[in-house]
Amino acid sequence: MKILERIEKLKKERRAVILAHNYQLSEVQDCADFVGDSLELSIKAADTDADVIVFCGVHFMAETAKILSPEKTVLLPDRDAGCPMADMITAKELRLLKAEHPQAKAICYVNTSAAVKAECDLCCTSANAVKMVDEVLKDAEEIIFVPDRNLAAFVAGKTGREMVVWQGCCPVHDAITAAQIKNARLLHPKAVVMVHPECRPEVTALADATLSTGGMSRYAQETDMGEIIVGTDTGMIHKLQKENPDKTFLPLSEAFICADMKRTTLDKVLSSLENMTYSIEVPEEISVRARTGIERMLTASR
Ligand code: 13P
Ligand code: SF4
Repeated sequence: MKILERIEKLKKERRAVILAHNYQLSEVQDCADFVGDSLELSIKAADTDADVIVFCGVHFMAETAKILSPEKTVLLPDRDAGCPMADMITAKELRLLKAEHPQAKAICYVNTSAAVKAECDLCCTSANAVKMVDEVLKDAEEIIFVPDRNLAAFVAGKTGREMVVWQGCCPVHDAITAAQIKNARLLHPKAVVMVHPECRPEVTALADATLSTGGMSRYAQETDMGEIIVGTDTGMIHKLQKENPDKTFLPLSEAFICADMKRTTLDKVLSSLENMTYSIEVPEEISVRARTGIERMLTASR
């Protein structure tokens, strides 16, 4: 039996659903029941009636799914698929920062560990960070934003809110330069440029649109422009091209690749369903506290 047939058969036997992030390898995206951004995947994980969620993404995403659906089995096909940005702040570091700002409300990007989420009042993704700060935290005297300094700068620019910001970043998005955007525009003067809010402020300032990966998917479908430069992980191009076969998508850089997102292969998806590996567990005490901020976010986003 071919690998895709074996995955399909096991999926039915286990009553499993396969969720994949937009940066996953093309063949992994194609075997998934749903492909989306962090927010869309969290909503799917919270709403699914499957018994098992195979999460093709990175650790914090599977952990978020487990927090939202603690009664389900959540599997991460590669146990080492992590997010370097999420590792840039610990719960202890955040507790120290909060102690320095006792009046502040703390908001964390979803790219954080469950233990960090447990210390926060609210969670956000790149799709809703502006709305969370502008609306949900509108009455907060002071705001602590962790861990992405670039997303924080984007939110501050849109909302006019000054925030206490942790100096973390995504090493992949932070490496993109303004010169690369200028160069791409010279080479493709008719193209629109979209980038992710994890890019540096001098990069987002030069883009036509700064969007979550789910936002990029919608923007690409709505724009009349036929040529689009994509300033995020190149895995995104697969979905964009599939949804818009008549448009041309150009990666801002071929080197724009999140290695952790590419750890998941079809073999690992199969093995995950065969052996029920690797099951994500979150201690009850952390899970309960982390869920509050995630659910607040989902309620405000729906
Ligand atoms: P999105 O939620 O926009 O898909 O972003 C996730 C991520 O990790 C981007 O680097
Ligand atoms: Fe983390 Fe960056 Fe990879 Fe997203 S692209 S998972 S933020 S390292």
